[in-house]
Amino acid sequence: MKTPKPPVAGLALIAVAVIAGQIFLIPPAGSNLMGQTSNPAPDKTIKELTDEIVRLQGLLPDQSHAMADVGYHMSHAWFAAKAKNWPLAKFNVDETMSHIGWAVRIKPIRKGPDNSDFPLQPYADAISGGPIPEMQTAIRNADLPAFEKSYQAALTACYACHVASAKPYLKLKPPAMPDSGIIDYQPDSP
Ligand code: HEC
Repeated sequence: MKTPKPPVAGLALIAVAVIAGQIFLIPPAGSNLMGQTSNPAPDKTIKELTDEIVRLQGLLPDQSHAMADVGYHMSHAWFAAKAKNWPLAKFNVDETMSHIGWAVRIKPIRKGPDNSDFPLQPYADAISGGPIPEMQTAIRNADLPAFEKSYQAALTACYACHVASAKPYLKLKPPAMPDSGIIDYQPDSP
């Protein structure tokens, strides 16, 4: 069962942006903002700021964490479609794709089975260019058989990246039961 994750990445990025702001956005000496004299001197050295950025980088979620979210949303998409709750299915397919993008940004290059580096993006593109639009079309058409077919095609494309990443044991199948029981899949009655 997956627990909801705090937006660590977002917070860390904001913190990095704030620190970067201290470096790049220092107002010129003597500048006067809203009648107050600002202090132009940064109170941290570059070394301290670099250490802080390294510390914040250590707080960023790893790729496995982002992928667990991918699995969570993909699983919810399945049960939402089964319940013919098409808006909920669409939400989860969109989240699946955006979390795949996030996972690739966390670690864009991995080692393959032969220990050589390879880029992950083409594997993400293979999903976003085929199975995901097919799932979205099936959702728009409220077509469950077409959704199930494209879902299976998506899992095959997901698995291709796991194999390429030297993790062939991360096999995928349509889920038998939801990861978490907190989402009510039943659509509103018309
Ligand atoms: C671009 C490559 C890529 C794609 C596409 C991809 N995965 Fe992954 N996935 C990985 C990698 C790499 C890992 C292992 C991450 C790690 O351990 O650092 C992983 C791990 C996982 C895990 C295990 C997470 C955990 O730690 O418990 C699940 C579940 C998962 N993927 C589901 C999916 C699903 C479902 C899809 C398709 C909707 C998908 N993945 C698409 C690369 C990919």
